[in-house]
Amino acid sequence: MRLSGKTSITRRLTLLFVTASSVVLLALGFVVASSVEQHFEQQDMEVLTGKMELARYALQTYKSQDDLARISRVISDSLVGHHGLELIIYGTDHELMFTTPKPHFPFDLMATQAANSPYRPMTWELGGQSYRGIAAELPSGISAHSKVVVAVALDIAHHQAFMRSFLQTLWVFVAGAAVLTGVLGWVAARRGLAPLRAMREQTLVVTAQQLSHRLPVESVPLELAELAQSLNDMLARLEEAFRRLSEFSSDIAHELRTPVSNLMTQTQVALSRARGADEYRGILESNAEEFERMARMIADMLLLAKAENGLVVPSRQVVHLAAEVQTLFDYYDAVAEEKQLQLRLEGDGAVSADRLMLRRALGNLLSNAVRHSTVNTTIQVNIRSSADAISIAMKNTGDTIPAEYLDRVFDRFFRVDPSRQRSSEGTGLGLAITKSIVLAHAGTIAAGSADGVTTFSISLPRVA
Ligand SMILES: Nc1ncnc2c1ncn2[C@@H]1O[C@H](COP(=O)(O)OP(=O)(O)OP(=O)(O)O)[C@@H](O)[C@H]1O
Ligand SMILES: [Mg+2]
Repeated sequence: MRLSGKTSITRRLTLLFVTASSVVLLALGFVVASSVEQHFEQQDMEVLTGKMELARYALQTYKSQDDLARISRVISDSLVGHHGLELIIYGTDHELMFTTPKPHFPFDLMATQAANSPYRPMTWELGGQSYRGIAAELPSGISAHSKVVVAVALDIAHHQAFMRSFLQTLWVFVAGAAVLTGVLGWVAARRGLAPLRAMREQTLVVTAQQLSHRLPVESVPLELAELAQSLNDMLARLEEAFRRLSEFSSDIAHELRTPVSNLMTQTQVALSRARGADEYRGILESNAEEFERMARMIADMLLLAKAENGLVVPSRQVVHLAAEVQTLFDYYDAVAEEKQLQLRLEGDGAVSADRLMLRRALGNLLSNAVRHSTVNTTIQVNIRSSADAISIAMKNTGDTIPAEYLDRVFDRFFRVDPSRQRSSEGTGLGLAITKSIVLAHAGTIAAGSADGVTTFSISLPRVA
């Protein structure tokens, strides 16, 4: 299945590679370009200042107007062999004293630069060429020109041509590198994500019938091991839930089959011949009893299903436990008396809980205790308060629950003695309901049974 509209990790990683490598290469190119540029400027400046010094020396050595011709010669000689080097000297009234042939100087710029920032390099373009130069006002030994402006310039066209081709190469290189890292990044990302695809293939195997399948945790990379483990845990939980669910539905079918077939047989037998009104009444009464039992069971199952989905929300009020237990004792008084059982209560405590739900939970425990107690024993209820919890323990003497069943007694339809199933004794939902009520109150329940003494303990938090 293709999921459109989702961003792909491969594409994102590839883009990331391309962007990162381009940025790094561009930054590197910028650093190299500016240091080359700086190097050129330094080289140029050495030549320019050298010539400026020469001009200064010449201007100071010669004293009269007549020396001007000689100065010009000296300077001209010194410029021989320096291709692209230009020099001019002019007086304060702009009259030219010396110039190389065809000079390319913007005079205004020279004048301001010479006055304000002598020896500071500047660049300009004139006649389609680029120049770098410096200018300065220098003292002169020639009396008519006590101060003159000297400007030296160098044609930097070859430097610029070099920089242009350098930048061009850089661009081509960056573009090529971006494409290459893009391809490499794509390959790396795809290879890196291969275990994820393998995992996906593994999950395709999982169906409702194959929930026992697990992802290999050992063979996947470290980063995915945790995910695989979590998925495995999830599968285990699902498998368990699924198992319970299918068990539950087969249990329901099983539990309903017997009463329904009983009812059917009874009805068919009744219909087989004409009977008197009293006989019909008797049959209907017995049927009604069976129907009631079934209705109770269905209501219980609905309650459990709701509790399992978190739909049972206790409406809380302050419940005094001793009073509740006493009410239950009164209710079971007659049955207890029949078996000569003593009902004893010790301690008290108040919790915030749903009164009716709590009564039902405790009632289920008491009904079990009464049912499974040996004649002439005591059922003891202890209520204890601690700082953050209230515990209720119900102890009776009678049938022992084998240790291996202690956890399962809270399962739906579970009865320790299977022969007792479908007797009038119970549907095996009582403790499941008690447990779900306790859980809905954020409490815990545990069972203990040894040497004929069975104890069920409920612990409820004081503050819910
Ligand atoms: N106090 C007890 N002493 C010995 N066995 C017990 C005790 N309480 C529960 N059991 C065992 O646990 C099983 C499950 O109890 P649970 O209350 O869930 O079902 P039930 O009593 O059989 O049916 P129901 O409560 O729905 O009428 C019982 O069948 C019984 O075997
Ligand atoms: Mg019960």
